Amino acid sequence: MTQSPTRRTILLATGAATLTVGCSEYGNENSDSGSSSVKADTELAKTSDIPVGGGKIFKDEKVVVTQPKKGEFKAFSDICTHQGCQVTSVSGGTINCPCHGSKFHITDGSVANPPASKPLPEKQIKVSGDSIELV
Ligand code: FES
Repeated sequence: MTQSPTRRTILLATGAATLTVGCSEYGNENSDSGSSSVKADTELAKTSDIPVGGGKIFKDEKVVVTQPKKGEFKAFSDICTHQGCQVTSVSGGTINCPCHGSKFHITDGSVANPPASKPLPEKQIKVSGDSIELV
């Protein structure tokens, strides 16, 4: 009789942990509803924040920045082209979607593992010195 509430509690706790992990920034002063605030040249990160052979996901900006080779940076939408989940990790040379297992190459966003059939759309970034900006 106590198994069901316990299981529910665990599931809720897991969901809360996932949400906490997904929201890496506190005190975001920009509301997501501000559609009129188009910002140009927004700094995303320092180049040193992006691991060589890997990448970093910026959930608020809906972009994933990768560094396939030292000094070579790429950016892609973090919205999976299969059914629209946000990708959650970059590892083993791929950008990974948790929903159905699609993987995308960090080099060009192309599909490395289905069910997605289309690549992640590329986004424009500008690297100025050690600063990576979303254009
Ligand atoms: S939404 Fe990403 S694999 Fe299905």
